Amino acid sequence: MQIIRSVKDLETFLQQYEDINFVPTMGNLHAGHLSLVSEANKYDGITLVSIFVNPLQFAPNEDLDIYPRTEKQDLKELEKINCDVVFCPKPDFAKGVKKLHANADLSKKLCGISRPHFFHGIVSILNHFFQLIKPKNVFFGLKDYQQYLIVKDFLTKSTLKTNIHGVPIVREPDGLAMSSRNNLLTPDQRLIAAKLSVILKDTAHQAKIKNLEYLRVEGIKTLEELNFKVDYFSFCNSSTLEEIDEFEANTLLAIAVNLGGVRLIDNFLIQ
Ligand code: PAF
Repeated sequence: MQIIRSVKDLETFLQQYEDINFVPTMGNLHAGHLSLVSEANKYDGITLVSIFVNPLQFAPNEDLDIYPRTEKQDLKELEKINCDVVFCPKPDFAKGVKKLHANADLSKKLCGISRPHFFHGIVSILNHFFQLIKPKNVFFGLKDYQQYLIVKDFLTKSTLKTNIHGVPIVREPDGLAMSSRNNLLTPDQRLIAAKLSVILKDTAHQAKIKNLEYLRVEGIKTLEELNFKVDYFSFCNSSTLEEIDEFEANTLLAIAVNLGGVRLIDNFLIQ
């Protein structure tokens, strides 16, 4: 497995390859990321993973400084699952990046309400990576469903010939969606965190037969009783993220909470 740290070396390396399957990450890899790499490995060409904690997607009051950085361990995991090349650019990679705006309709909803800068920062850094790598395929986890939709929209409107693949959420045995932020939870918080996916699934299973507003109010109440601070609890259209009052096919139930300062998100597509 090749490890590349400079843009120049990456450009030289990529000259030899036509089909690049790209998995962008911020490191601290878990089984969710590794499932993206395994998916990428199924396609012809080489699998390239980037590890870069993107400062553009963090606001000054957010957790950039404490975001877990575990490069040595990450590289070991990637080697084990036959990743071909890892690009770990230096922090100055984000300097001078062209600032782009994510789709206004999609980026103002859900996570975009409390994190207005977030998706613009993501689209800007991804465009920087995409222009450099010109990937044939890119892979995104569906836990970050809104991110997936926004990147898909961005690619549809760009001149890049890149296909996007959404990969299903990977969960811990107790149901908690895998996330690098799970490592920031204390053992007690970790036990409580598992309840999020239980409430998510219970609520989703009742969506076809009960009033959605009732389910929303009950869901928020249950989460608050468990000490979660609820950022949003939304039944929405899974293509537009528009809030809905009545169940329709492909409704997305999306939840974001804060538990002891740790932000957790999860979602369920109700078909
Ligand atoms: O999902 C993430 O880890 C990040 O938002 C991404 C796509 C690597 C961009 O920094």
